[in-house]
Amino acid sequence: MEEAMKTNNQPEAPARKKRIFSAIQPSGQMTLGNYLGAIRNWVEMQDQFDCVYATANLHAITVRQEPKKLKENTTNLFALLIAAGVDPEKSIFFHQSMVPAHAELSWVLSTFTQFGELSRMTQFKDKSARHADNINAGLFTYPSLMAADILLYQADLVPVGDDQRQHLELTRDIAVRFNGIYGKTFVVPEPYIKKNAARVRNLLDPSKKMSKSDPNTKSFILMTDEPATIMKKFRSAVTDSEASVRYAEGKDGINNLMEIYSACTGKTYAQIEDEFRGKGYGDFKTAVGEAVVATLEPIQIRYKELISDRKYLDELAQKGAASAERLAKRTIEKVYKKVGLVR
Ligand code: TYM
Repeated sequence: MEEAMKTNNQPEAPARKKRIFSAIQPSGQMTLGNYLGAIRNWVEMQDQFDCVYATANLHAITVRQEPKKLKENTTNLFALLIAAGVDPEKSIFFHQSMVPAHAELSWVLSTFTQFGELSRMTQFKDKSARHADNINAGLFTYPSLMAADILLYQADLVPVGDDQRQHLELTRDIAVRFNGIYGKTFVVPEPYIKKNAARVRNLLDPSKKMSKSDPNTKSFILMTDEPATIMKKFRSAVTDSEASVRYAEGKDGINNLMEIYSACTGKTYAQIEDEFRGKGYGDFKTAVGEAVVATLEPIQIRYKELISDRKYLDELAQKGAASAERLAKRTIEKVYKKVGLVR
């Protein structure tokens, strides 16, 4: 066969590109943490891999949402991700609720997920503490839906921030368990978590991750924050009393600012330490703020253009969903057949 191919002068079939899947919830606005921890990597991976990305609106309703706002936030997030570099020409990009196979596979996988496993999820513990009046079944089985998102597309790699590591582990366990019972059905995915900015921290309490659900808006940077707001938030960021810009244990506030600065400028920690030797934290915070503004400004300009044409954005999502549906169908048909479900 190989000989024949050579003599016919035909190129060898290219190896299958690795498949990527990731998603982000449209609950409120996107933060700098989402961008530096995950979305930047989604964008970078598009040239090399076969990428499938979604807004996770089914996940978002595990916390009560105002319907009109949820719909608006979903389209806004879609536009913001395109502005940040997610390219619907290169990647399949859609809203989770447009492809019913996510919910279908989620149900099947929930029967392969144990109560004990779900009980150990730190995100469930955190969220049920924060929403004690609405600890619904969906909040509990959320990781089965996330596993369905990933396994549906036979993803090899999942670019996420560090806080999703535990969910990824569970996804792998579910895939291995299912494959063990029914024979190879799912690719067992690997998390793709970059070292730098995998956990961008809360600006006022660096022991916590940066999160839009924090009641104090000064603790996080939103992708759409005005430059003056960004500068102000960095000026009030918590540091320490040492007055020395260096990356070290016990300097969580400064480490966080260094990670952000490094992610936005491409400078190494050693270069940053050199740059600010003998200077105070005030100068450093100003430089971090300016670097973030410079990173976000082009995204904000593009976002404002995109968001004015919601019809175009809806059409793009419909197109993405049609491509996603074709891939998802293959997996869901295989799974239903293996489990013995009539279709
Ligand atoms: P979500 O919407 O909370 O966050 C989206 C992505 O941003 C990352 N992230 C961070 N990274 C660094 N520092 C931070 N402070 C920070 N905050 C958030 C998250 O790790 C994530 O990668 N369950 C997921 C959404 C989801 C999903 C999926 C992800 C649904 N299905 C399938 C991957 C694969 C979530 O709530 O992410």
